[in-house]
Amino acid sequence: MTGCPFWKNKYQFNFTKLALEDEADDKSQEGLNKAGKGGLIYGEYLHLDKILNAQELQSENKGNKIHDEHLFIVTHQAYELWFKQILWELDSVRVIFENGHVRDERNMLKMVTRMQRISIILKLLVEQFSVLETMTALDFFDFRDYLSPASGFQSLQFRLLENKIGVPQSLRVPYNRRHYRDNFKGKEYELLLKSEQEPTLLQLVNAWLERTPGLEPEGFNFWGKFEANVLNGLQQEYAIVQAKEDSEEKEDQMAELKKQKEVLMSLFDEKLHEHLFSKGDRRLSYKAMKGALMIYFYREEPRFQVPFQLLTSLMDIDVLMTKWRYNHVCMVHRMIGSKAGTGGSSGYQYLRSTVSDRYKVFVDLFNLSTYLVPRSWIPKLNPTLHKFLYTAEYCDSSYFSSDDSD
Ligand code: HEM
Repeated sequence: MTGCPFWKNKYQFNFTKLALEDEADDKSQEGLNKAGKGGLIYGEYLHLDKILNAQELQSENKGNKIHDEHLFIVTHQAYELWFKQILWELDSVRVIFENGHVRDERNMLKMVTRMQRISIILKLLVEQFSVLETMTALDFFDFRDYLSPASGFQSLQFRLLENKIGVPQSLRVPYNRRHYRDNFKGKEYELLLKSEQEPTLLQLVNAWLERTPGLEPEGFNFWGKFEANVLNGLQQEYAIVQAKEDSEEKEDQMAELKKQKEVLMSLFDEKLHEHLFSKGDRRLSYKAMKGALMIYFYREEPRFQVPFQLLTSLMDIDVLMTKWRYNHVCMVHRMIGSKAGTGGSSGYQYLRSTVSDRYKVFVDLFNLSTYLVPRSWIPKLNPTLHKFLYTAEYCDSSYFSSDDSD
């Protein structure tokens, strides 16, 4: 005899009976089965016949089926689907900007939500490489030759994404001394050319920032007031250090202040800005930089809260694209070492050179932190601008008269 007699006698239930009794009042079974009554069913709606039959293993075609090629294909396809979704969101954001709908503040929230969605997708894509990394370099080597000369470099959607965000063409790393576009033909080439000519997200954000309320010299004149406050603040700090007794510490503090002054005053040097802009070291116009700084400073004002979130999401996207490039290049290094890519580039060396600030689009937004100053140096809002930023009523820029006292 097996089993525990105590259990058997005292606690043994009739499970079959219980299950049948429960079925009668099982609410989870109350629905209607609608499939088969016309209309689209799941697989048709999603065109799964196409998607799930699109994994053609080249190794199998060549009579040498390699297990991991399936993972390699599915991973790339998943990336491309997500790229498609990102482009979908990005295009909609660009339309809101282009049509001037951004002036209706209700659209700002929609836009920021979509930008944040892009960030979350990108986070997923940054992490997704780890699935492919379960494949070893040797496993990849088994089928790598079969896919040549196909390469991620020929991903149309990735290039469209870079162009639409605003990666400057002049700063792109050449690919085997050729322009990246020369690797595309026909319709794809045309689409890329179009994406280079359309307004980029960077240009659209730039135009929007230039309209930041409070920048008008004849109105609140943020910039004039800010420059005066910075000069005043620096002078006060000089005076405090100057009053100290001569010592090595005082010398260090003076040198530090001198450096701080140089950095801060460079912000008010428009010629320097134009010079840096022409080299690609700055990407926003001078006026747009002022607008961005204003949003940074007054981000707690209700009307600047969503714009501030937008600027944050733009930086998030830049950071995540950089992380994508970094994770990709690390994986490539692990998989092929310093071998040339299937697309013909130097591989790891080429990809490494793309993980740099030249591919960051909103680099100015990061650099603005260099110019943050003590809160007391930030110009106080005048009552008119304060009211405008506090409430949601519409008003044009002439509303900010210069007679308002601080
Ligand atoms: C075993 C995995 C992978 C290897 C060894 C690899 C290798 C490479 C190499 C060597 C390049 C440089 C171009 C060339 O000469 O071919 C490249 C570019 C690229 N790959 Fe991959 N890749 C892998 C996976 C992926 C995945 C999963 C994606 C997702 C879509 C991807 C997307 C790209 C893109 C977009 C580029 C162009 C990057 C640029 O030019 O900035 N790769 N890849």
